[in-house]
Amino acid sequence: MSMINLISNLFAIDSLQFWWYLTRAAGLMGYFLIWLSTVWGLVVSSKILDPFMERAFTYDFHEYLSWLGLAFIGIHVIVLMADQYLPYTLWQVLIPFLSPYRPFWVGIGVIALYLSLLVTVTFYLKARIGAQAFRRIHYLSLVGYLGATLHGLYAGTDSVLPAANLMYKGTFLITLFLVVYWVVLLYGRKQDEEKLRKQLLREKRRNTARPAAAGNSR
Ligand code: HEM
Repeated sequence: MSMINLISNLFAIDSLQFWWYLTRAAGLMGYFLIWLSTVWGLVVSSKILDPFMERAFTYDFHEYLSWLGLAFIGIHVIVLMADQYLPYTLWQVLIPFLSPYRPFWVGIGVIALYLSLLVTVTFYLKARIGAQAFRRIHYLSLVGYLGATLHGLYAGTDSVLPAANLMYKGTFLITLFLVVYWVVLLYGRKQDEEKLRKQLLREKRRNTARPAAAGNSR
C-alpha cells in the first residue's frame, strides 16, 4: 500500500464528508483562538496580569493568538472551496451574503474575518497611525468577536450539540463579564484623571493669585 493510500485510508480523505469535518473543526478551532485572543486583550488592558507576567510577553502572546486564529480560519475557508459536496467559489467566500448555504449567518462570518484581519494587521501600523487610531480600530475586535460567535452559533452544524451550544454561551458570558469590568475600570480611571486635573488647576490658580495678593498689600 502506498503512503498516499495509507493516509487516505487512515483519515478517509476520499470520503465526501472528510472536507466537511475538516472545515468545521478548523472553524471551531479558529473561533476558540479568536475568543482567547479577545479575552486575553481585555485581561491585558485591564492590567489583571501585570503582577504575574511581563507586559512584552502578554502583548506578543495576544498578537500570536490572533494570527493563529486567523490561520485556522484560513484553513476553514480554503477547505470550504475544496469540499466536493457544496464547493464554494472564491467570490462566495470573499463577498458577504453570497453563500449558497445560510447566506446571512455565513455573511456575518465573512465580515467577522475582515474585522479580525484589520485589527491584527494594525498591530504593525501603530507607530504610523498613532495610538488613538490604533485603539479605535482595536475596539472593532469586539464587533468581530461578536460576529464570529453569531456566525458559529447560527451557521454551524454542531450548534445543535449541547457541548457546542454551551461553549458559545460560556465563552460569550466570560467575554461580557470582562468587557463590563474593563469599562468600569476605564470609567474609574477617567474619573481619577479628571479629579487630578481639577486639583492641579485649583493649585495653579491659587499660586498665581498669591503673588498678586502679595503685590496689592505692599
Ligand atoms: C472570524 C471568522 C470565522 C470564524 C471564527 C468562523 C467559525 C466558524 C464556526 C465555529 C463554525 C461552526 C462549525 C460547526 O458547527 O461545525 C463555522 C461554520 C461555517 N463557516 Fe465559518 N468562521 C469564520 C469565517 C467564515 C468565512 C469567511 C466563511 C466563508 C464563506 C465561513 C463559512 C462557514 C460555513 C459555510 C459554515 C457552516 C459549516 C457547517 O457547519 O456545515 N466562515 N464557522
